[in-house]
Amino acid sequence: MFSSTLITLAALLGMLTTDVTANATTLNVTVIAAQNNQSTLECWALEPGFTSSTQSGTSGNPVLSLGIGAKNMSYIMIPAHTDGGKHNAPTMQWVAFLSGVAHITLPHSDDEAWIQGGENGTILAIDTADVSAEGHFTVYPSDEVTVALSLPISKVPGHRVLHRGACLYGTEREQND
Ligand SMILES: *[C@@H]1O[C@H](CO)[C@@H](O)[C@H](O)[C@H]1NC(C)=O
Ligand SMILES: *[C@@H]1O[C@H](CO)[C@@H](O)[C@H](O)[C@H]1NC(C)=O
Ligand SMILES: *[C@@H]1O[C@H](CO)[C@@H](O)[C@H](O)[C@H]1NC(C)=O
Ligand SMILES: *[C@@H]1O[C@H](CO)[C@@H](O)[C@H](O)[C@H]1NC(C)=O
Ligand SMILES: *[C@@H]1O[C@H](CO)[C@@H](O)[C@H](O)[C@H]1NC(C)=O
Repeated sequence: MFSSTLITLAALLGMLTTDVTANATTLNVTVIAAQNNQSTLECWALEPGFTSSTQSGTSGNPVLSLGIGAKNMSYIMIPAHTDGGKHNAPTMQWVAFLSGVAHITLPHSDDEAWIQGGENGTILAIDTADVSAEGHFTVYPSDEVTVALSLPISKVPGHRVLHRGACLYGTEREQND
């Protein structure tokens, strides 16, 4: 009786674990892309998605490749209440916001993105000057410093476009549902 309860519990836990892992298949990221020479915002699911790490130290944990890095990687500190103005992505790059907030808007669309530094703070910026005449606007409205890592890449990573506009996360998504 006791052991069969344990087995049932173990089986249930196993199912739950598999379920959660099976659904955490990939990462959704907001992308500053371009169409018809204008910057756009899109939400992409990266493909391929997570695999199980085989690296010692993180073995068994979900890991996903961000592609092959290129050029100069940097760590930048943007003071509170900074207006970054209108600009293009200098190169195709990941921008991982670690703190603060970045508010991204577009010259030819009402789509906007509020990027909170931290867990869901990684975006892809590929609206380089050769594909977008005007680029996008970025303002850093928070009271704290916005720290970001920029990681240039040499080609657009595999992906599936989920929808137009920025990805929504956590409570933001629940509010929109
Ligand atoms: C995982 O996906 C399956 C099939 O799409 C779904 O039935 C299940 O509710 C999902 N589980 C979670 C934890 O979201
Ligand atoms: C990614 O977006 C899809 C479509 O909106 C959603 O079903 C899925 O739960 C999201 N994944 C994560 C990890 O947020
Ligand atoms: C890399 O970035 C730093 C800081 O912006 C700059 O001083 C340096 O010249 C850059 N190096 C190359 C090779 O682009
Ligand atoms: C984008 O627009 C700029 C400015 O109008 C123009 O010089 C450039 O040729 C255009 N590029 C493409 C790819 O259409
Ligand atoms: C990041 O996004 C995931 C998926 O939508 C969500 O579960 C999580 O709470 C978010 N984290 C933060 C810090 O907002």
